[in-house]
Amino acid sequence: MRISDSMVNSINEQIKAEYDSAYIYLAMSAYFEDAGLKGMAHWMKKQHAEEIEHAEKFINYLYERGARVVIPEIAKPKDNYANALEVFKTAYSHEQYVTSRIYNLVEQATAEKDYATISFLQWYVDEQMEEEDNTGSIVSQLEFLGDDKRGIYIVDRELASR
Ligand code: FEO
Repeated sequence: MRISDSMVNSINEQIKAEYDSAYIYLAMSAYFEDAGLKGMAHWMKKQHAEEIEHAEKFINYLYERGARVVIPEIAKPKDNYANALEVFKTAYSHEQYVTSRIYNLVEQATAEKDYATISFLQWYVDEQMEEEDNTGSIVSQLEFLGDDKRGIYIVDRELASR
């Protein structure tokens, strides 16, 4: 069964969202480098690389379905933050936003009875659950620490091992 044009458009829009995510995390990594929080910078750099993989997985899927990929323009990300907590809160709410986008894709594929796309999207459904859990638990740790610089330094060292 051919993939519909509207499904191809929606996936192309999601490819843009994944590259935008990659850029957002790259800017967060640059913020942390500048703030001397090398572990958090490293964590965000890894996140950046994961988002590129998410985009490329969608690109390869469209190729497999014989559909046209549109390479998107990437929006300039926010690059200044008040502190580490604000960065991770932003990352957490961004992941919730991405999850809602993935769910919309699943709903569209379901409405179109596009079972191949539904099956393909299941990987992203699982991945989003993990991404929300990862960012959400760092937010909880940082909220608990407040202005405790020593605690933030310990979290920074832990995040260096990602
Ligand atoms: Fe590709 Fe973090 O969602």
